[in-house]
Amino acid sequence: MATPPFDADPYRAALVDALARIPVGPDWRCADIGTGTGSVSLALAALVGPAGRVWAVDHSPDTGDELAAVARETGTPQLVPLVQSAEEFALPVQVDLAWCRFLLMHVAEPFAVWRRMVAATRPGGFIVAQEPITTAGRVGGAPLSMPDARHPDIGASLPAFPAASGCALVSAWAVAPAGAGPGPVASYLAELSGVDPGDDPIVLPVLVTVIAQRPAAS
Ligand SMILES: C[S@@+](CC[C@H](N)C(=O)[O-])C[C@H]1O[C@@H](n2cnc3c(N)ncnc32)[C@H](O)[C@@H]1O
Repeated sequence: MATPPFDADPYRAALVDALARIPVGPDWRCADIGTGTGSVSLALAALVGPAGRVWAVDHSPDTGDELAAVARETGTPQLVPLVQSAEEFALPVQVDLAWCRFLLMHVAEPFAVWRRMVAATRPGGFIVAQEPITTAGRVGGAPLSMPDARHPDIGASLPAFPAASGCALVSAWAVAPAGAGPGPVASYLAELSGVDPGDDPIVLPVLVTVIAQRPAAS
């Protein structure tokens, strides 16, 4: 599994927008749960710098090995891979920011995993989830489906998660990358579905972003 170039990620704009709305900076402790190829973890690692820490959490040991190699090769000691399931996610210290992207759609109980992320975050810290409404995507006008995902449309439920977990809703919005012909959008779709879309118009799944904040300790 190669780590894709950051610019090849068609959801990069949603990631950059979310990062711009949070005061993440040097020294912050972050966790990216369901890190996969590490796009989010690497973006966070660049912002927190060597004095910060980003736990890149995934239940796949292969992912952990590959990210450890990336951390070594790129001189990014603040990136710390951790093989752990989201259902059991826990760290020895509370983080300033807990993030997941395209994770809750795959777990049995998305809200239970969200609550673990909240519990792992310090009072006043931030929790971000970016999850799709898969069936809102279109290829050549036809709706997308992702039969392997447990909750392909979990993005539609996300905006209720902050209040239901005692957090403030800082920001919530949705975006969908679109395109036609060769490029990052077509490549992403081909990887996702195994289907080459040719020159058909593509609207990738809508990605809902929710930024929540834990109440500060009184
Ligand atoms: C679709 S990928 C998303 C990767 C990355 N977050 C991104 O946005 O590019 C989902 C990742 O979540 C991981 N994952 C799925 N279920 C998980 C679970 N229950 N606990 C931990 N990781 C899980 C998978 O191994 C995979 O790496």
